[in-house]
This record gives sequence, C-alpha cells and structure tokens, in this order.
Amino acid sequence: MYNDVLSKLKKYNQEHLLRFYDELNDAEKKHLLDQINTIDFEQMNELYKSINRKEEIAEITAMSSYENKDEYYDAGIESMKRNEYAVLTMAGGQGTRLGHSGPKGTYFLEYGINKSLFEIQCDKLKHIYEISNVYTPWFIMTSNENNNATIEFFEANNYFGYPKDKISFFTQDELPMIDTNGKIVMDSKYNIKMGANGHGGVASSLHNSGILEKMKEQGIKYVFIGGIDNVLTPCDFPNFLGFAKHHNFPCASYIIPKGYPEEKVGVFCKKNGRPAVVEYIHMTPEMNNLRDEDGNLVYGDAHLLINLFTIEALEKIIDKKLKYVAAFKKTEYINDLGELIVPDKENAYKFESFIFDAFPYFDNIGLLKGKREEIFAPIKNAIGVDSPETASKLYLDFYRK
Ligand code: UTP
Repeated sequence: MYNDVLSKLKKYNQEHLLRFYDELNDAEKKHLLDQINTIDFEQMNELYKSINRKEEIAEITAMSSYENKDEYYDAGIESMKRNEYAVLTMAGGQGTRLGHSGPKGTYFLEYGINKSLFEIQCDKLKHIYEISNVYTPWFIMTSNENNNATIEFFEANNYFGYPKDKISFFTQDELPMIDTNGKIVMDSKYNIKMGANGHGGVASSLHNSGILEKMKEQGIKYVFIGGIDNVLTPCDFPNFLGFAKHHNFPCASYIIPKGYPEEKVGVFCKKNGRPAVVEYIHMTPEMNNLRDEDGNLVYGDAHLLINLFTIEALEKIIDKKLKYVAAFKKTEYINDLGELIVPDKENAYKFESFIFDAFPYFDNIGLLKGKREEIFAPIKNAIGVDSPETASKLYLDFYRK
C-alpha cells in the first residue's frame, strides 16, 4: 500500500505528506495512509487552479417574493402535527470571526439571556412542541473537528430536556487545506489538516451519513435548514412551512428587505433566468441602488440562510457539484523539521461550497417576506455588528413583546 500511495503522491507533487513516515508507529502509519487514500488529488489540483479565477458573467434579473398570509399558519401546523417536519441545524462551521474555542453552538450568550446557542435553538424546538404537541426531529450537522465536543456538550446538558431520541448528529464532509504553493497542509507528522467543506455540503453529507434515508423512513417531507448562529431562527414559525406546502415549492427561503443598499448580505435574483443569490462582493453600486417604480430596491431580498427543502429537493442536489470557493485562513502546520508552527497571518486555503449555489437547480424557489426583528439576529463577530451584544438585544426585544 505504501508504494502505491507514494507513486500517487509523486504524480501530484505531494510526496511531503510521507516525509516523516519512517518515524511513525503502526497506528499513525495506517491513519496517514487511510487519510491519503480518501483524497481526490485531481480535484485538489483543480481547486488550487480555481483560487483566483473570476466569476463568469451572468445575466442578472429581478426575482419576486410573497407576502406572508394567515392561511399559511394552519397548513404549517397541520404538517407539523402529521410528523412531516424536521429541523436541521448546521453547526459544522469554525466560527473564526467570533473567536470562541469549541463548537459555535457551545458559545454562552450572556447579556441577560445566559444560555448557549444550542440551548437557544432547542427552545425553538420546544416551542414547536407547545404549539403542535409533537416533538419534531432535530438533526445537527457537525464537522469531524467539533463532533465529539458537540455531543459531549449535549450529554453534559442532558439534551436541554428535549427527548434524546429525537436528536441526531451527523458530520459533514471535508477537504484537505492547501498552502499558497498548492501543497496539502499537515498539522502533525501523521495528520493532514482537513477543513469542513461549507454549508453547501449539507445534502451530500445527509446522504453519505444515512440520515436522508432515516428521514424518509420516518415520513419526513420538509426539512428546515438554518445556521446555529441566528438566535431568532424561525424554525418554529408554521407560516414558513405552510407557505412552501401551500404553493408546492420544492425549496423556500425566508427573506427580509435589505436594511440599506450597501448592506453586506447576499440577495436573491435570477442568474441567466434561474433562481440564485448574488453575494454582496459581486454587487455593483448601480445594482445595490437600483429601485423599482414603487421605490423598493430591485435587488433587496436578503438571503439569511433560512431555508426549507422538501426531501425530493434534497435528493435532487445530493450529487450536484456546487462550486467551491477558497477562504484564506490562519492554520497551524508542521514545517520541514516536523515542528508545529502557529502562524500570525493567513497561510492556507480552505474550500467551501454554499447552500445557495444549489438554488439554480430548481425552476422555482418560494421567497417569503419576513420581518428582520422577528427572524434574524446573527452572531458572527466578537464585537460590533452581528455580535453577541447586538443579537441579544434583538432576542430580548423579540421575547419581551
Ligand atoms: P458562516 O459562513 O458564518 O461560517 O456559517 P462560520 O464557520 O460559522 O464562521 P466564520 O466564517 O469562521 O467566522 C454560517 C452557518 O453555516 C454553518 C455554521 O456553523 C453556521 O451555522 N457552517 C458553515 C457549517 O455547518 N459548515 C461549514 O462548513 C460552514
């Protein structure tokens, strides 16, 4: 096996992965060879070449959205009661901007709330029980890096009083990180530094972990998919589910109007006639400020990572190769002497795909208009905008009402 692996590595200029092989014990040797065997080196080459590639120019046009209606509530509650609904929380990110060590969901929000982000999400699940009398299944996507710490946290907190058998964890897929010369990074003499492959990997990770099958067996038809870092996540709003059901949308997104034209959020549009999200870095000042005859921003419907998919829609995107985007990150690595180096600036690329890049695979996506103060209080940064301080204020204002 060693020789096969070595010749493969030579072919792709990655022999450095075996440079400490002779110093390793049997278990470490096996770990390293197994890890190398999971890597698609062709794909890594392609990803390296794609790092500074420009986006293809697309024709961008407006996409319309729907007002919320009372009748959606009844359709949503009925579906919840029929056990057709599941909530999926994506908690595999690294939370580098927040700077919390450990899974982001274990971050303890003070400011008069005094709960972890996981407990805040669990409160939402408990609220679904209060309004529907059903304990909705809760699926939590972790990364290999934070999976054990996440499960230990739930154990230590007695699953926040939610039925343990209704909570499932699954890990997302990952890719090796590479340095600026295209070399795969190692963070010990026998371990390759892997990075979670972004929230765009959610459907394939659901499939690979067997969870999608489990959902089907349980009769689940709709899956709410949101992030761990929105403390007002509306997974307990029957209207959103009822909206998707009423209009038979394979996929729906809860949106809000941009706060101001230059706000740094992705917005919905049609790209070459297909539903899509343009990221704020790709918006020109003209696009940001373009208004319709009623004075509303033409590209003003913000994507908040609050989405709902039918099971069929998830199955449809399992094998779709969503584009990977390189994120330049500060990452520990070992040097030629085998010493662990902690860099003081960014040194390696992590590759991530985004769930919204799956939208063009659908003919139509339902956009439901929501109110910012009811559905969106993200925690991204340690201080300033979208921080624990701003999110807790929004949270407390909402629950005081
Ligand atoms: P972000 O894009 O905000 O990333 O994720 P992040 O990792 O939490 O934070 P930074 O960028 O390192 O500061 C939005 C949501 O998607 C999840 C995150 O856990 C968060 O809930 N996510 C992100 C994953 O589950 N997996 C990933 O690979 C990336």
